[in-house]
Amino acid sequence: MSGGNTLWHGRFEGGPAAELMAYTESLSFDRRLWADDIAGSVAHVLGLVKASIISEHEGASVLAALEQVADEMGAGTFVFVEADEDIHTAVERRVTELAGPAGAKLHTGRSRNDQSATDVRRWLKRELMAVAGRVVDLQHVLLDRAVAAEGVYLPGYTHLQRAQPVLLAHHLLAHGWALGRDVERLLDALERIDVSPLGAGALAGSSLPLDPDVTAEALGFAARFENSLDAVGSRDHIAEALFVLTLIGLNLSRIGEEIVLWTTDEFGFAKLDDAYATGSSMLPQKKNPDIAELARGKAGRLIGDLTGFLATMKGLPLSYNRDYQEDKEPLFDAVDQISLALGAVTGMIATTKWVPDRMQAAADAETTSATDLAEWLVQRGTPFRDAHAIVGLLVRRTLAGEGSLRDLVAVHEALGPDAAALVAPGVAVKRRTTKGGAGPAAVAAQLERFRAKLAELSAAVAPDLG
Ligand code: ARG
Repeated sequence: MSGGNTLWHGRFEGGPAAELMAYTESLSFDRRLWADDIAGSVAHVLGLVKASIISEHEGASVLAALEQVADEMGAGTFVFVEADEDIHTAVERRVTELAGPAGAKLHTGRSRNDQSATDVRRWLKRELMAVAGRVVDLQHVLLDRAVAAEGVYLPGYTHLQRAQPVLLAHHLLAHGWALGRDVERLLDALERIDVSPLGAGALAGSSLPLDPDVTAEALGFAARFENSLDAVGSRDHIAEALFVLTLIGLNLSRIGEEIVLWTTDEFGFAKLDDAYATGSSMLPQKKNPDIAELARGKAGRLIGDLTGFLATMKGLPLSYNRDYQEDKEPLFDAVDQISLALGAVTGMIATTKWVPDRMQAAADAETTSATDLAEWLVQRGTPFRDAHAIVGLLVRRTLAGEGSLRDLVAVHEALGPDAAALVAPGVAVKRRTTKGGAGPAAVAAQLERFRAKLAELSAAVAPDLG
């Protein structure tokens, strides 16, 4: 008896148990790495030829076999067999079938430890850049809608209580800036991801004259690993990617929650486009914000992906441990979910109709000008704490039914008719004049700065398109 057709059969008398294969396989989820796995193998073959470990002729036949495997994978005709425990095993098995003895040399000086780490880093470079592009798309929509919302204002909230009026553009751009930081975080994480682990072998490098710089360059990595134990034994870049993806999910959940609120009859600030809303199977009148709700709900799942992975990594000794195989499912899930969420939320925001009358009526509630009244007094020499108390007392009186705030202000000895003019529709928002503030002049300047920042981010996420 031998170890069957596993990659490690020499050392084993018997083959693997069916339960072992069922429990330890990763092919069911790592097969999506096939293109990266083949690219890694192509680079490795070039390195083996360059180091004269295999002949040019052998190299050519392995490369031809790899090309055929790529064709089969791409066409969906690749036949997986039961012993293919992961994508690396499947590709090597097929290459050996196709190229014979030369194929059996493919794994020289390489381990699945450095191979799988290389595949995932290469996959992440592409996928995180695509996510960054989708975030930038959402930022563009927010910018367009901010520009188009010129002059529309709504209450700004703290504690979800009306606080001061703000321009709708200001509110939309607040989400836009947060998403811009997420793009920067993705780009920053990508710098640490862009390091090739190939050549670290199982954990300690090789006695063969392989050059990790050669494969790093062939694979388009910015650098190679500095320490082989670290190369196969670290996953902090995956934790970091998961964190940034989760944070994007949290930011989308906050946008989602606002859309849920704004589309209620109670708020009535927004109406969803039919294409981005759902109906009820029982209640004919319903129009539900399911995208917004799932953006909120799926944030929980992303937090699970991140925290589950962090728990997996805790306390693991150097270098590779099979636990690391558990990096892929949460990572793939987070990328898939964020990609879907960004597409759906972007479409929803692009098509939602605002209801300026409702927004402005809510913002024009008399009490949202209370701070302006206090600041009016400050400009005439009243200490702020005293001004706050004077206006607070008037608010208390209007709430007690003694009259409108405007009337009470008009007859107040320290305030009077000039101050009462502040308690009129649309006045308060124009008084938010400080840099970065919520009024028209400040927001016009902010729009320019946002546009410039977005141009910079757009260029960074689509370098080829300029
Ligand atoms: N499928 C495995 C993974 O993703 C490949 C590495 C297995 N290595 C090992 N030494 N058993 O981590």
